[in-house]
Amino acid sequence: MPLFASRLPHVGQTIFSEMSQLALEYNAINLGQGFPNYQMDSHLINLVSKAMQDGNNQYAHSNGVPLLRQKIAEKVAFLYGTELNADQQITVTPGGTYAIYTALTAILHPGDEVLVFEPAYDSYVPNIELNGAKPAFVHLQAPDYTIPWEKVWQKVNRKTKAIIVNSPHNPTGRVLSEEDIVQLKSLIQKFELYIISDEVYEHLIFDEKKHLSLLRYPELLGRSFVCFSFGKTYNCTGWKLGYAIAPADLMVEFRKIHQFNCFSCFTPTQVALAQFLEEKEAYLELGETMQSKRDFFQKSMIGAPFQALPSHGSYFQCYNYMGEWKETGIDLSKRLTKELRVATIPVSAFYHDGGEPNQIVRFCFSKTEDVLQEAANRLHN
Ligand SMILES: Cc1ncc(COP(=O)(O)O)c(C=O)c1O
Repeated sequence: MPLFASRLPHVGQTIFSEMSQLALEYNAINLGQGFPNYQMDSHLINLVSKAMQDGNNQYAHSNGVPLLRQKIAEKVAFLYGTELNADQQITVTPGGTYAIYTALTAILHPGDEVLVFEPAYDSYVPNIELNGAKPAFVHLQAPDYTIPWEKVWQKVNRKTKAIIVNSPHNPTGRVLSEEDIVQLKSLIQKFELYIISDEVYEHLIFDEKKHLSLLRYPELLGRSFVCFSFGKTYNCTGWKLGYAIAPADLMVEFRKIHQFNCFSCFTPTQVALAQFLEEKEAYLELGETMQSKRDFFQKSMIGAPFQALPSHGSYFQCYNYMGEWKETGIDLSKRLTKELRVATIPVSAFYHDGGEPNQIVRFCFSKTEDVLQEAANRLHN
């Protein structure tokens, strides 16, 4: 008998942890969880080491090391043409997920509703529910997972407080289009919603698509918390370091929560990143590198009983196995892990209720080519 009522009664272990555990148990290649299997830039490692040797080992400023925030502001001006006030609009956080949670906590009150597109990254819904608010779900339209805007407009009501967008999108690799931006602008104008924009994969974008960061659009940024992750940009997901950008008045509320939750982030990595951000190629070349991995894996999968769906960004590509097997995504993912020793994540896990009947799994291709080739060989079986 539990001692108290759970705040998240329906939540158990996430599918990511479950599949990673199964992958370990069966010594499987883990194309389930999203992380690179190769080493990050050694120059950045050396900069962290130097930052520690230089004595940057005490609490950092609660909003983030000032020089790092300054460099982030310069990067945003360079990439998206928007001038930010680094003191008032940028807060360094322990990862993108934390930034999203803090933003939602800053704006939500019990009874509020938040529009969530499914399939969705798994933290959004529990984050909303912990704040006593409710998700209102809209399904993206397979196979290219476009946003059905007419359904969004139907779902908005006077309780709707915010909308979460994620581009490039996990798990589908879909990216926001110009038409999505037009729709978002008119939605925000009409209903005065807030936007949580999850842009952790901002640099992992392919096929010459442009990342339509909400930072480009003053009328959207005026009501947005835009969340980023250094972990995804610099192949160091284990660092759990990111940042949030918002207008000054929204950031005041964000920081009220941040100061009593984490207060400040690991200092040496912030000092190192303030220098490393000068090296633009490190993030500008990332899209091309990752695109070649997507293409390599897709080519290696030709002839295997899976059909690739479009992916224009992120670490991920979805594949459907319709017509090959009747089993659910969860059963197939477990069987592939145990029998072929390749771990994947079923896309049904990204829906609160398992979604529409879909026989689709997500593969993570941020791996070295030998590993991708070996996984594909096994999947040809
Ligand atoms: C869509 C999305 N948002 C946020 C995150 C988390 O970023 P971080 O590790 O910086 O918290 C992930 C990680 O998988 C993600 O896929």
